Amino acid sequence: MKISNIQQVTMANNLKLLVLLCVLFFVKHTSFAQGEGLFKSKCSSCHQIHKNGTGPMLNGARQRWVDAGEGELIIKWVQNNAALRASGASKRAAAVFKEYGGSQMTVFSDLTDDQVNQILDYADAQPKEDPSKAGTNVGSQDPNATQTNEDGGLGIMWIILAVLFIIVILSVGGVRRQLKVASTGDESYNQLTYWDEFKTIAWKYRGITGIVGLVLTITILVVVFKSLYSINVMQNYQPSQPIAFPHETHAGINGIDCKYCHNSVTKSKHAGLPTVNVCMNCHKQINGEGKPFAGEVKKIYAAAGWDPSFGPAGGYRNTKGKPLVWNKVHVLPDHVYFNHSQHVVVGGIDCKQCHGDMKQMKETAKVLPIEELNKVEGNIKLSKATLTMGWCIECHGAKEVTIGDGKNAYYDEIHSRLKKNKTLYKQYLANDGKLTANELGGWECAKCHY
Ligand code: HEC
Ligand code: HEC
Ligand code: HEC
Ligand code: HEC
Ligand code: HEC
Ligand code: HEC
Repeated sequence: MKISNIQQVTMANNLKLLVLLCVLFFVKHTSFAQGEGLFKSKCSSCHQIHKNGTGPMLNGARQRWVDAGEGELIIKWVQNNAALRASGASKRAAAVFKEYGGSQMTVFSDLTDDQVNQILDYADAQPKEDPSKAGTNVGSQDPNATQTNEDGGLGIMWIILAVLFIIVILSVGGVRRQLKVASTGDESYNQLTYWDEFKTIAWKYRGITGIVGLVLTITILVVVFKSLYSINVMQNYQPSQPIAFPHETHAGINGIDCKYCHNSVTKSKHAGLPTVNVCMNCHKQINGEGKPFAGEVKKIYAAAGWDPSFGPAGGYRNTKGKPLVWNKVHVLPDHVYFNHSQHVVVGGIDCKQCHGDMKQMKETAKVLPIEELNKVEGNIKLSKATLTMGWCIECHGAKEVTIGDGKNAYYDEIHSRLKKNKTLYKQYLANDGKLTANELGGWECAKCHY
C-alpha cells in the first residue's frame, strides 16, 4: 500500500491539527479547573450552578446580562457590585439587586477579568443535574456531582495523553530504523504502510513532534504534581445547608459534646451527621419564639412533621416529614480510605487539628485552609493544603504517636513487639526517640488507597 504526496501533506496537516487541539485542550482544562476552584472557594457559599439560592444560579448568568444588552458589565458586577450599582450604569445590576431584596453580594476586587470569565465559563459548562437525584433541601448542591465530572475529565485526558505519547515514542524510535533501511538501498523501503509513512512524517516534522513531546511531558508532571499535592479546590468549601446551624451556639455556648450529634466518630470510619430526631430532643422545647432564629426552628419542625399548635404541647402531624439532608463539607475522593476512629481514638487526635475549633464556628461548617488550622492552639503546624494527599502524608511524618504509656492498648502492643525486634526498635526509636505514623506504615499507598 503506497502513499501519494498529497496524502503525505494531509497527514502532516493532521499532525499539526493534533498539536493545536492538544494545546487547546490543556489550556481549556487548566482554566476550567481554576474556574471550578474559584467558584467553590468564593461563590458557592451563596450561589449554586443550577438553582437559585442566596444568590441567583450562575449557569446562564452571562446570558442574562447579554440579553439585557450589558454583557461586558457582568465582569464589573462580580468585581465590585456595589460600585457598579452606585454608578447607575447598569439596569441589570439594579434589577437583580431588587429581585433579591437588596441582599449584598461580596465585593471581589481581587479577581481579574480572566478569573471572572473562568468562573462563568465553568458555571455555563456544567450539565444540568439529574433532577431525580436533587434533594428537596435548599442547598442540594451535591459535591459528589462535581467530583464525578472532574474525574471524568481527567480520565479522558489521561487516555488522550497516553495515546499521543505512544505515537510520539513509536515515531521517533521507528523512523531511525527506516532511514537506515533506506540508506542501505533495501527494497522493502517501497513497501511502506500508512503507519510507516506516518512515522517518517513524524520524523520529518520532528520539530513539531518534539514540541508535542515536551508539552506532554510538562503537562503530565504538572497534572500529577497538582493532583497529588495542591489541587485545593476544597479550601474554604462551604456548601449551603438546609438549616443555618451554628456550632458555636451548640458545641460552644451550650457545651454539647461533639459525639451527641456525630455519634459514630469514635466507633467507625464515619463521624455521622445528626438526623432531625436528634434536633427535636431539644428543639421541641426550644422553639425560638420571639428570637431571630425562630424561622430556622420552624424548618426543623417542618422536617420532623411537628406542629407546635397541635394539642396542648404540640405533636407530630405526619410522622414522615422530610429528612434533613446535610450537604457534606469535607469530601475525599472515592479511592481514598479515611477512618475517624483510627485517628480520634487510636491516634488520639483532637477534632480541631483537622476541622478547626468548631466551638467558635458561628456559621455552618467549612473546610478551613491550612493557615487557619495552624492558628488553632495545640495543633501541630502543617504546610500542605487541607484534605490533599500532601496534608495526610505530612502529618503522618510529623505526628508523634504516644507509646508505652499504658493508655493506648494499640500502641502498647506495637511497642512490646518492637522491643522484641532489636533492629526495628533501633531503627524506629533509638535514633530519634520518636515514633511517627509513617514508621507504622502511614506512608504506604495501600493504607490510604483502595
Ligand atoms: C455573600 C453571598 C454571595 C457571594 C459570596 C457571591 N454572590 Fe453573587 N450574588 C449574590 C446575591 C445576593 C446576588 C443577587 C443580587 C444582589 O442582591 O446583590 C448575586 C448576584 C450575582 C450575579 C448576577 C446574576 C444575575 O442573574 O444577574 C452574578 C453574575 C454573581 N452574583 C456572580 C458571583 C460570583 C462569580 C461570585 C464568586 C466570585 C459570587 N457571585 C459570590 C450573593 C453572593
Ligand atoms: C447539636 C448537634 C451538633 C453538635 C453538638 C456538633 N455538631 Fe458538628 N455538625 C452538626 C450538623 C447539623 C452539621 C451539618 C451542618 C454543617 O455542616 O454545619 C455538622 C457538621 C460538622 C462538620 C462538617 C461535616 C462535613 O460534612 O464535613 C464537622 C467537621 C463537625 N460538625 C464537627 C463537630 C465538632 C468537632 C463538634 C464538637 C466540638 C461538633 N461538630 C458538634 C451538628 C452538631
Ligand atoms: C486526622 C484528621 C481528622 C480528625 C482528627 C477528625 N476528622 Fe472529621 N473528617 C476528616 C476527613 C478527612 C473527613 C472527610 C472524610 C471522607 O470524605 O471520607 C472528615 C469528615 C467529618 C464529618 C463529615 C461526616 C463524615 O463522617 O464523613 C464529620 C461530621 C466530622 N468529620 C466530624 C469530626 C469530629 C466530631 C471529630 C473529632 C471527634 C473529627 N471529625 C476528627 C478528618 C478528620
Ligand atoms: C442538646 C440540645 C440541642 C440539640 C440536640 C440541638 N439544639 Fe439547636 N439549640 C439548642 C440551644 C440551647 C439553642 C440556643 C437557644 C437560645 O439561644 O435561646 C439552640 C439554637 C439553635 C439555633 C439558633 C442558633 C442561633 O444562634 O442562631 C438553630 C438554627 C438550631 N439550634 C438548630 C439545631 C439543629 C438543626 C439541630 C439538629 C441537628 C439542633 N439545633 C440540635 C439546643 C440544642
Ligand atoms: C493531624 C495528623 C494526621 C492527619 C492530617 C492525617 N492523619 Fe492519618 N494518622 C495519623 C496518626 C497519628 C495515625 C496513627 C498511626 C497508626 O494508627 O498506625 C494515623 C493513621 C492513619 C492510617 C492507618 C495507618 C496504619 O498504619 O494502619 C490511615 C489509613 C490514615 N491515617 C489515613 C489518613 C488519610 C487518608 C488522611 C488524609 C485525608 C490522614 N490520615 C490524615 C495522623 C494524621
Ligand atoms: C496518608 C494517606 C495517603 C497515602 C499514604 C497515599 N495517598 Fe494518594 N491520596 C491521598 C488522598 C487523601 C488523595 C486525594 C487528594 C485530593 O483529593 O486532592 C490522594 C490522591 C492520590 C492520587 C490522585 C488522584 C486524584 O484524585 O487526583 C494519586 C494518583 C495517588 N493518591 C497515588 C498515591 C500513591 C502512588 C501512593 C504511594 C506512594 C499514595 N497515593 C499514598 C492519600 C494518600
